[in-house]
Amino acid sequence: MCKSILSFAVLLFFISCGNKQTSTSSNEQTNNSASADNMLAEKMDRGKAIYDKTCTVCHQATGAGVPKSFPPLASSDYLNADVNKVIDGLLFGNKGEMVVNGETYNNVMPPQVLTDEEISYVLTYVYNSWQNSAKEVTPEMVAQRRASNQ
Ligand code: HEC
Repeated sequence: MCKSILSFAVLLFFISCGNKQTSTSSNEQTNNSASADNMLAEKMDRGKAIYDKTCTVCHQATGAGVPKSFPPLASSDYLNADVNKVIDGLLFGNKGEMVVNGETYNNVMPPQVLTDEEISYVLTYVYNSWQNSAKEVTPEMVAQRRASNQ
């Protein structure tokens, strides 16, 4: 008697295990409609990381630069006047006299060893910070300058 109850219980156990369903339906919704705003935010994040690592040493975290030595990137008339000149400066370096916000600089900025994508991120960050003109720089714009100057 005891034995049959026990085997019945074991049988029930197996049946219930066998019926156990593994849920494969996923309700996860992937939202692929990344808006332009999200893309800009991502470029800004990446650009800031590159800026903090590469440019702050001279232009400072605030973009204010250092008087007489390193020109400001914050509210820079030079920056906002001609994006191609700015891209060229990063690709090939800047030297000789340069007037930024009425101050003359005569110093050297070495070429920045960055990919087209990295330059597009860091410049998008700079243009969208510190009261600059909110321009977006694409890797294609950088590639074009690189190719036309070789
Ligand atoms: C070693 C110091 C140094 C580093 C690092 C450096 N720069 Fe410069 N940058 C300069 C100097 C010096 C000038 C001015 C050159 C001249 O007098 O002709 C300049 C000029 C500029 C200008 C044009 C003038 C202005 O203020 O608008 C821009 C834009 C600029 N740099 C962006 C950057 C960015 C972005 C980075 C980082 C990817 C960077 N620089 C890294 C030293 C540096």
